[in-house]
Amino acid sequence: MTSPLVSIIMGSQSDWPIMQEATTVLDKLGVPYEAKVVSAHRTPERLYEFASQAHTRGIDVIIAGAGGSAHLAGMAAAMTHLPVIAVPVPSKHFNGMDSLMSMVQMPRGVAVACQAVGGAGAYNAGLIAAQMLALKDPELSQRLQDWRSEQTASVATEVQ
Ligand code: RP5
Repeated sequence: MTSPLVSIIMGSQSDWPIMQEATTVLDKLGVPYEAKVVSAHRTPERLYEFASQAHTRGIDVIIAGAGGSAHLAGMAAAMTHLPVIAVPVPSKHFNGMDSLMSMVQMPRGVAVACQAVGGAGAYNAGLIAAQMLALKDPELSQRLQDWRSEQTASVATEVQ
């Protein structure tokens, strides 16, 4: 089995239907990944273990999705030098505005790449992770460019 290059973490199993969108594009482009539940608030020791060790397991990019008071991506970024892509998951009471604000307002010096709220954000997190990996992988870069061309060609000129 191929070792994962991307690690998708999320604060709860309930985030999976949204975060699974990240896997669509990774599957399509042949990027190996893993997916785990790691909660900043409920499993802080698991988060410490995960973030501080991810690079030693061959992980190159982390995608972190959480909802509500979403500290997962920022705290992971605080404990790793790997790039962390943040996905604000829609929340029950504020539709993900709280998740977005938690993730996007990082202090200077600790960065996350925050995506859109919800499924499109998770999907694009997978895409941008693949784009990062493609910088050093010409075959993946070619697959990405082919995929982009297919996407462009699939957009109809006329309204159906
Ligand atoms: C966050 O709280 C999780 O990321 C999830 O989006 C939200 C609700 O979690 P559950 O109560 O469904 O486990 O930590």
